[in-house]
Amino acid sequence: MSEKAFDIVVFGATSFVGQILSRYLMQQYGVDGELKWAIAGRSEPKLVTLKSSLGDAAKELPVVVADASDEASLANMCARTRVVISTVGPYALYGEPLVRACVEAGVDYCDLTGEVQWIRRMVQQYEARAKETGARIVHCCGFDSIPSDLGVYFLQQQAQQRFGTPCNTVKMRVKVAKGGMSGGTVASLVNVTKEALADPALRKELANPYSICPPEFRPKLRQHNVKAAEYDEDYGAWTAPFIMSAINTRVVHRTNALTGAAYGSEFGYDEAMLTGRGLKGRATALGIAAGLGGFMAATAIRPARWALEKFVLPKPGEGPSPKAQEEGFYDLRFVGISEKGKLIRTKVTGDRDPGYGSTGKMLGEAAMCLAFDIDASERQAGGFWTPASLLGQPLLDRLTAKAGLTFEVIDGK
Ligand SMILES: NC(=O)c1ccc[n+]([C@@H]2O[C@H](COP(=O)([O-])OP(=O)(O)OC[C@H]3O[C@@H](n4cnc5c(N)ncnc54)[C@H](OP(=O)(O)O)[C@@H]3O)[C@@H](O)[C@H]2O)c1
Repeated sequence: MSEKAFDIVVFGATSFVGQILSRYLMQQYGVDGELKWAIAGRSEPKLVTLKSSLGDAAKELPVVVADASDEASLANMCARTRVVISTVGPYALYGEPLVRACVEAGVDYCDLTGEVQWIRRMVQQYEARAKETGARIVHCCGFDSIPSDLGVYFLQQQAQQRFGTPCNTVKMRVKVAKGGMSGGTVASLVNVTKEALADPALRKELANPYSICPPEFRPKLRQHNVKAAEYDEDYGAWTAPFIMSAINTRVVHRTNALTGAAYGSEFGYDEAMLTGRGLKGRATALGIAAGLGGFMAATAIRPARWALEKFVLPKPGEGPSPKAQEEGFYDLRFVGISEKGKLIRTKVTGDRDPGYGSTGKMLGEAAMCLAFDIDASERQAGGFWTPASLLGQPLLDRLTAKAGLTFEVIDGK
């Protein structure tokens, strides 16, 4: 298939999520079978420790030393592989040199960033060059934003089959999401808040639902955004804001833009969390909205942020226990309505905690899909893609066959 030593290199393999991903690739694909892969990072001793924790079968797993701030080491890593996965974050702090190295080398890349402002910068600076070199860059290959992006893709396929037209309005509602946060995710959230506080233009950009769409794609539709406790007629239940909607909705709109407005030129999409019916549902929604507001306010105030980082939130390298990952799961509900009022309900579920157990598997399969499912002869052009716009059905098939996700129609008439 290629002269390169590896199909995939996992850069940041020693990170909290990188270790979960490495364990997943090891269990699912072993070493030197169908998949040739390596673990990479800045610390050889830590990589060697990780390798021994993966068991005897990992003895032959190659280790590559590369540092996010050392361009030559990144270029060497890229010269040896067809795909790089990166879990080195916050990406806005450490990610750019690797994206540049992959783009220059024409190497495919996927990651877990949810940092909209950074994605926008990368697209602006490197998309033209990626189109020349053939590098395919796919951000957001974790819980944000694969279930949302492929969830909408799946709903629209089903709507097309049943109604002959896509739905011009889709809502995603989190029914259940059981899991925790890692230090790396906290660091990324805190970094976005810091950048936004220092830059009014960035605050405006973060509020724009089309901020990562190509500049010529600017629908007139004002997108609904659940910012407080709200009653949802379609679900007959109360809803609260969902923190990941700030990235997921942007990715879904970019997919629509990159697929020639396959969901419609004035397509509405929003996300929220279901909190239940009646007074209890309302009280829970009010509580979540207030808690989220309090968390954002605390990360914006320097002493409160310091206290949160020091005493409350997980540190880099920390995250939910293996038991919590195992016991975690999620259930996301989608409702779509076509222009003629036809309605379809679908759901997406995952069998591990969303941010880590399930994210590790999704990221691994996104990389497998990049490496094996889109044949070189029918390779799509290089550029910055979304999971659904580049990987679409092959990724959906992989996730259901191997990674514990389900995509189902509940009701479509
Ligand atoms: N999209 C999603 O659903 C999702 C889910 C989970 C996480 N994430 C994101 O994924 C990222 C990783 O999260 P995490 O909790 O796993 O992070 P983490 O445990 O804090 O790990 C960060 C990693 O970055 C590495 N690193 C830092 N500076 C480096 C450098 N100069 N060169 C090479 N490596 C360097 C660290 O290496 P050492 O091990 O050597 O210290 C470590 O492996 C974060 O950005 C987080 O927001 C996204």
